Amino acid sequence: MNNRNPPIACRPVTPDDTGLITQLFSANSVCRGCWCMHWRVEKGGKTWNACWGDPNRRTFLKLLRQGRVQGALAFAKDKPVGWCNFGPREDFPRLKRSRVLIYKAAPSTWSINCFFVAAGWRKRGIASALLNSAVKAAFERGARVLEAYPTPQKPEQNLVAAFAWTGTRTLFKKAGFKPSVDNERVWVKRRAKA
Ligand SMILES: CC(C)(COP(=O)(O)OP(=O)(O)OC[C@H]1O[C@@H](n2cnc3c(N)ncnc32)[C@H](O)[C@@H]1OP(=O)(O)O)[C@@H](O)C(=O)NCCC(=O)NCCS
Repeated sequence: MNNRNPPIACRPVTPDDTGLITQLFSANSVCRGCWCMHWRVEKGGKTWNACWGDPNRRTFLKLLRQGRVQGALAFAKDKPVGWCNFGPREDFPRLKRSRVLIYKAAPSTWSINCFFVAAGWRKRGIASALLNSAVKAAFERGARVLEAYPTPQKPEQNLVAAFAWTGTRTLFKKAGFKPSVDNERVWVKRRAKA
């Protein structure tokens, strides 16, 4: 450990974290438009465009204060440096409209669907730490199956970071996810039997 590589700690987000989330998201041009609302707003196009920016911010922070947002936050000392969004599939109505993610989900399936690691903190395992925290919390909270949508990637291909916001294949593979049988774009992990 040194000042350039402080230890990273992750924990689930709480309704008191509006300030930390605002600090993290406001520093990035996409996050301060999306506010992790992409999968929560049912439609794209004009509907989504009308939500971009302040409307998304207000809705997301309200949901967070109401305890209706689940996610993991990563910290370097006290500084928020990463985010991973998850929750029951039903929280994300836009999933059902996606043509490439057509898939028959089992009951109690939860979705892990967005990552953000702040610029300057990438490629040092923070998304992996966030995913571990999200998987643990989701299974503890009742998920039986987790699904994810890693960005399509050729072997060894370096993805443009902004296009990898649903995570990478290696990220999920190392956490025990596998492509589902009905749609290889949807990767799944089942809760271990007790
Ligand atoms: C994609 C992203 C989450 C990865 O986070 P990260 O902390 O750098 O990821 P990790 O260091 O934990 O890497 C996990 C695995 O993914 C791989 N990986 C990470 N970034 C990658 C990239 N750009 N291309 C290919 N593979 C990548 C790593 O090599 C690692 O695999 P390995 O263990 O076999 O080496 C990060 O780049 C990011 O936040 N991008 C911006 C996404 C965004 O715009 N989100 C906001 C949406 S509103």
